[in-house]
Amino acid sequence: MERIKVGTSRTYEIHIEEGLLGRVAEECSAVLKSEKLLLLTDSNVKPLYGDVVCRSLTDAGYRVTEYVIPAGEDSKNTEQYLNIVSTLAKEGFSRSDAIIALGGGVVGDLAGFCASSYLRGIPFVQIPTTLLACVDSSVGGKTAVNLPEGKNLLGAFYQPSLVLIDPLTLKTLNPAVYADGMAEVIKYGMIRDPELFTALENHVWTDTQIITRCVSIKSQVVAEDEFDNGCRLLLNYGHTIGHAVEKCSRFEVSHGSAVAIGMSVMARAEEDGADLADRLDAVLKDYGLPTACKFSTEELYRAAMADKKRRNQTLHIITVPTLGQGTVVSIPVEELNTYLRKGLSV
Ligand SMILES: NC(=O)c1ccc[n+]([C@@H]2O[C@H](COP(=O)([O-])OP(=O)(O)OC[C@H]3O[C@@H](n4cnc5c(N)ncnc54)[C@H](O)[C@@H]3O)[C@@H](O)[C@H]2O)c1
Ligand SMILES: [Zn+2]
Repeated sequence: MERIKVGTSRTYEIHIEEGLLGRVAEECSAVLKSEKLLLLTDSNVKPLYGDVVCRSLTDAGYRVTEYVIPAGEDSKNTEQYLNIVSTLAKEGFSRSDAIIALGGGVVGDLAGFCASSYLRGIPFVQIPTTLLACVDSSVGGKTAVNLPEGKNLLGAFYQPSLVLIDPLTLKTLNPAVYADGMAEVIKYGMIRDPELFTALENHVWTDTQIITRCVSIKSQVVAEDEFDNGCRLLLNYGHTIGHAVEKCSRFEVSHGSAVAIGMSVMARAEEDGADLADRLDAVLKDYGLPTACKFSTEELYRAAMADKKRRNQTLHIITVPTLGQGTVVSIPVEELNTYLRKGLSV
């Protein structure tokens, strides 16, 4: 089994192994002192993996309350949040009881925010079942729900007690959802890891190897900058333009596809970057991701200007002048136009 330690304010481990789902109780009992557990999952994941996890936990003597949300981003809302914390209160959950998040980033973000705030914080364990949740959302302690005014506006930094990844769960993913996570995987290769990038080009690594490498990179970055004031910005490669694409499309273009387009534009805008941009586009296409969109420079610029990552008049963007060497660059917002024009004109 792969074990990765995350050195944040609360240190915890990420365990990665095929078949881990059947041993969830054993793993949890090493870090939790709970009697009661709330197993939060969604309507797609419940019929696939809910029973095996629930059985493992109840057989080990935990009193498990299952809470199933409708699958999809719309469930990451304050109404679900309040219903879940009310359920915890009605069931008499104490500060040593815990929440288990079984699902993708929606379930993980919602469960994490409930755990961060109920009784001012109770333990939670992440069991991510999408590629994006394995390599991104379950690592790093960002938890949130959406408000009608925007995504992830109500949240907290709150680290889990443990993350359990069973790569076999990815076998049932819809290919488009798998591709979405792959955009983040390719991002890690671009910003930090030429070996990972080359392995992706050649299709020579298993899901377990890919996840292990990405989780190592993210946990290092997060340990260095837990509260997102410095190098964690690196993880935003392709995201400034990606968010603009998502907005312009009224969220019809998925996050992973939008980030793929954002990375491709940034790579094309790089001085002397044509070779790397060609390699990036080939990998993105290979994994079913787009490299272009129908929006104009002006439309994307206007959408990016409204992005929350803009701080005063300075924008932090990520460039990759050489494979594996992502760099945070501060530019005046207007200069984003130059990147967009260069990146989109090729
Ligand atoms: N906390 C963070 O740092 C962070 C980082 C990135 C994204 N996010 C958040 O993550 C969310 C997106 O996560 P996501 O892409 O995992 O979406 P998701 O949770 O909606 O999952 C995508 C779809 O896959 C289904 N699914 C999940 N696991 C499955 C499996 N093993 N087999 C078959 N179907 C399965 C889900 O039911 C859903 O329909 C967004 O809300 C985003 O804001 C958070
Ligand atoms: Zn992302």
